[in-house]
Amino acid sequence: MISSPLMNTLAGEKLSRPPLWMMRQAGRYLAEYRVVRQAQTDFISFCLNPDKACEVTLQPIQRFDFDAAIIFSDILMVPWALDRNVHFIPGTGPQLTPWTADMRLDEALLDTIGTRLASVGTAVQLTRSKLAAEKALIGFAGAPWTVITYMIEGGSSRDFADTRQWLWSHPKEFEALLDYVTEATIHFLMVQARAGADVLMLFDSWASAVPAERRDQIVIAPVRRIIEALRKQGIKQPIIGFPKGIGEGIIAYAEEAEIDALAIDHMTDVVWVNNVLPNNMPVQGNLDPLSLLVGGSDMTKSIDHILDSFNDRPHIFNLGHGITPPTPICNVEQMIRWVRKS
Ligand code: CP3
Repeated sequence: MISSPLMNTLAGEKLSRPPLWMMRQAGRYLAEYRVVRQAQTDFISFCLNPDKACEVTLQPIQRFDFDAAIIFSDILMVPWALDRNVHFIPGTGPQLTPWTADMRLDEALLDTIGTRLASVGTAVQLTRSKLAAEKALIGFAGAPWTVITYMIEGGSSRDFADTRQWLWSHPKEFEALLDYVTEATIHFLMVQARAGADVLMLFDSWASAVPAERRDQIVIAPVRRIIEALRKQGIKQPIIGFPKGIGEGIIAYAEEAEIDALAIDHMTDVVWVNNVLPNNMPVQGNLDPLSLLVGGSDMTKSIDHILDSFNDRPHIFNLGHGITPPTPICNVEQMIRWVRKS
């Protein structure tokens, strides 16, 4: 295992200066990313091109010297591998053929995930070979609920009305789809873990939309099942869970999902969450990406509040969600200087 500030923090060490990285750090706010992106016509092919994926994964490390890289890929690679006809339309976002309750789940497709997504493994391997030893490489997948929302809605959504209706109107079919995507996610994470990712992260970006009484079944149980399956196959890497917008549900998630660390969204009060989480559980977060967009003294005040609140536990500094494309580079630099001086 490579020793690095981020890995040490995940192992439970409290460092005087927290390691830092940003969700969505390889993306359109970077001019050098936009140059590579412009030459790629298709986003999925871009993700499946190990040289290009490696190049853009390393860009934010080269520019900002972050403590971790996150492999350039997407949570929608799983529906792509499941033949859901995934396309990224510039200006619109992802589009998929909507899944309907009467559709048959093709179990045989699950065994092809490892092959179909093998290029992501190659990108992980290549990136790991080029990264300095003290930098961690993060592999990731979407948590099953969040991925299912894209499959049922056929793209992004505001209220997830179709998915939530399905969950009540077709409980058996919903459970079967959840199991199916859970299995596919295990295969995808295995590819990245075996290729040498140091850490794995599960993004449940739309956990906020799950009815509270169903969180155990829809948010917590699939994550626990994924982690138990990985552990059974000998995967030892630490796993970060990000149940975005789950509110007080984070207490049960921390206790029951078997994750090693928690990514905290910007809607969660840091003082509260610090009090309710198990003593030594590492946390990551949680600056509002829009505070970073604006920068200045309000941002540094927010950073200080986060650093103070998590002072007594292992902490990885990060945002509460992904950086937005219009964010000025100088604000990212200001944030990094402020975190590193403290
Ligand atoms: O630095 C990184 O984090 C790069 C890897 C990464 C991407 N997507 C690349 C990407 C990661 C970790 C993701 C995760 C992801 N993808 C999530 C979970 C995190 C979150 O933000 O909540 C979700 C919900 C998606 C699905 C997704 N991918 C959407 C809705 C979109 C379109 C919206 C948009 O920003 O255009 C994407 C496309 C995407 N994935 C881009 C990048 C850099 C932008 C596409 C482009 O460059 O044209």
